[in-house]
Amino acid sequence: MEQNYKIAIIGQGYVGLPLAMSFSKFYETVAFDISVNRIDELNRQYDCNLEVEIKKNELLKFTFNENDLAECDIYIVTVPTPVKENNLPDLSYINSASLLVSKFLKKDNIVIYESTVYPGVTEEICVPILESISALVYNKDFYCGYSPERINPGNSSKQLNNIVKVTSGSNIVTAKIVDDLYSKIIEAGTFKASSIRVAEASKVVENIQRDVNIALMNELAIIFDNINISTSDVLEASRTKWNFLDFKPGLVGGHCIGVDPYYMIYKSKELGYLPDLINKSRELNNSIPMYIVNKTKELLLINNKKILKSKILILGYSFKENCNDIRNTQVEKILSGLNDLECLVDIYDPLLNTNHNNLIENPFKSSKKYDAIIAAVSHDEFYNYTINDFKLISNENLVLLDIKNMYNFSTWKF
Ligand SMILES: NC(=O)c1ccc[n+]([C@@H]2O[C@H](COP(=O)([O-])OP(=O)(O)OC[C@H]3O[C@@H](n4cnc5c(N)ncnc54)[C@H](O)[C@@H]3O)[C@@H](O)[C@H]2O)c1
Repeated sequence: MEQNYKIAIIGQGYVGLPLAMSFSKFYETVAFDISVNRIDELNRQYDCNLEVEIKKNELLKFTFNENDLAECDIYIVTVPTPVKENNLPDLSYINSASLLVSKFLKKDNIVIYESTVYPGVTEEICVPILESISALVYNKDFYCGYSPERINPGNSSKQLNNIVKVTSGSNIVTAKIVDDLYSKIIEAGTFKASSIRVAEASKVVENIQRDVNIALMNELAIIFDNINISTSDVLEASRTKWNFLDFKPGLVGGHCIGVDPYYMIYKSKELGYLPDLINKSRELNNSIPMYIVNKTKELLLINNKKILKSKILILGYSFKENCNDIRNTQVEKILSGLNDLECLVDIYDPLLNTNHNNLIENPFKSSKKYDAIIAAVSHDEFYNYTINDFKLISNENLVLLDIKNMYNFSTWKF
């Protein structure tokens, strides 16, 4: 017989909100967040991340009231796991969410973590917190699961229900319950990992693999820039081989690829092994914004333009295309490098309405002219602009640095 669970989802961000929407089609769902503003907007059926269309549903309750967490059977934790200034894991959110859940934990409850962590966080860090206030015993009174999230904001074809979801549980019975639960909402199906640690590791591996491969492409792009051949032309040719991996150079920002490798580096170092390749890839990807700044300087000089007080336009500010997420955006580092050169920088990002000092309205509709333009993020809108549009907003000759290979008329491509 099918169970009728009451599910609580702790954290209503990019990951938690789609989960709440999906589970509430089948189960009574408490969608909890500590941010009163976030809950207010969700109650007004508005998602500031512009990812989810919120429909009214009697089974779904958005709340910031902790007491609504009582009487739930399953708690799913989807809070942030960023890094601190020194790139060490910041587990403060997942710790406080665990503490919160422990206040309401009852016999036979299951706590499932979705936040990205290094292998061991659920059982070594979160479980002791869950046991502390509840005075319950892990795998005797309550159980845990881990199911990493793979959604890809800004990409409508890769959403929660059409991506295979890895699941796991703290024992065989729990693993089956967790897997059955997600099978209900994931059309693409689930994959039951052999343990919680394996499921935790699988997620970090996905992002480390991307980070290392992008670092390789960035390194090659620097070499090809020195040789003076086009990286995109080279990759177009290489891509014709059947087993070529299709990675491209670029800025690595955001809260996943640019952050998760640090979690693995931390865990590995704790165990006495320094993972050189992962570490070096992070360093290389972190150096790309300064490479772009130096290239801008070089191209200004080649084009007989001054650097001091030169007017620079950056197209795009979010950490990736077609998404308004600005967490850990590498464009901020480009901005800061140009500010150090005392350039005057404007940024245009049609998807943002944040209060950033450098953000401007559509420059293609203004009469202001720029000495150089950096196309940093490939939002769909930017593909509409022609060489004439760029020339109209350029001082003398067009200097267009194209980080995302968007135009066939750019001065320089990465
Ligand atoms: N965004 C993605 O595309 C994505 C994809 C895969 C995995 N992840 C991982 O999922 C986790 C969540 O990421 P996100 O992008 O949804 O974050 P987010 O910042 O969009 O949302 C997190 C929410 O949690 C809330 N919160 C913080 N502490 C809380 C607490 N103690 N109790 C209740 N709510 C709390 C915040 O107010 C916020 O609304 C992270 O570990 C992230 O690495 C994110």
